Amino acid sequence: MTSQPHLKAAGLIMAVFLITGIVCYASFPSPPPAEPIRLMFQNDAGKVLFTHQTHTEEYYLDCMDCHHNLMDDDVYNCSECHEETGDEYMLSRTDAFHEQCIGCHADYGAGPVDCNSCHMM
Ligand code: HEC
Ligand code: HEC
Ligand code: HEC
Ligand code: HEC
Repeated sequence: MTSQPHLKAAGLIMAVFLITGIVCYASFPSPPPAEPIRLMFQNDAGKVLFTHQTHTEEYYLDCMDCHHNLMDDDVYNCSECHEETGDEYMLSRTDAFHEQCIGCHADYGAGPVDCNSCHMM
């Protein structure tokens, strides 16, 4: 048997939880997305727009499909390893992009492979 005072106490606790919840929700804005939505690459051949989030969410690619990483599970910029000028062991940044972006589009038979369909602006 639940007596009246118990019910009142339960109601009060519920109210406190609810208010605490609302205050916490309101005071902590949702965190920024962990990954960029889109990236614009500036370069001599014409700007390239890369729809980063579309590639992961609509084309169902795994982070590691592109952010291949031999050290740990973190995500790094390509240029952490692929510097401006490459050598026989390491592709330059531009070659790394071209090989990965165009290579995958060619493999899927989808996505731009011609210069002007990427370098649009
Ligand atoms: C289709 C290839 C591709 C996929 C899939 C992908 N990324 Fe990326 N991401 C890139 C490229 C290219 C860059 C730009 C790197 C550069 O400028 O050197 C980038 C940049 C980033 C950056 C910015 C790094 C910085 O320090 O500025 C973060 C964070 C990131 N990606 C996280 C993710 C996460 C998390 C996933 C999986 C949900 C993911 N990426 C999937 C290609 C990809
Ligand atoms: C932690 C260092 C590191 C980062 C970050 C990195 N790479 Fe690499 N990448 C390498 C190394 C080392 C090789 C050569 C060894 C090998 O083939 O695995 C390589 C090889 C490649 C190759 C040759 C084909 C292959 O897969 O073997 C491509 C293309 C490439 N990287 C593209 C990229 C792109 C694009 C990014 C950013 C999204 C990136 N890499 C980030 C270290 C890195
Ligand atoms: C691992 C595979 C993969 C990689 C790597 C990849 N893409 Fe794509 N990309 C796709 C697929 C799949 C499509 C979808 C094509 C369709 O559905 O018509 C696409 C479509 C596109 C499109 C046209 C539609 C849109 O979403 O904007 C552009 C532009 C594009 N990719 C740019 C890039 C660039 C720039 C890079 C390198 C930084 C890149 N992609 C790397 C798989 C890839
Ligand atoms: C799938 C998309 C894509 C296609 C197709 C493509 N590129 Fe690129 N290109 C890029 C990206 C991404 C970069 C890297 C920009 C950066 O380093 O930030 C780049 C970089 C370059 C650069 C480097 C300029 C500099 O500042 O060093 C040149 C030149 C270039 N591309 C020429 C071409 C030519 C010529 C073709 C056709 C044979 C072509 N690209 C096809 C995406 C593409």
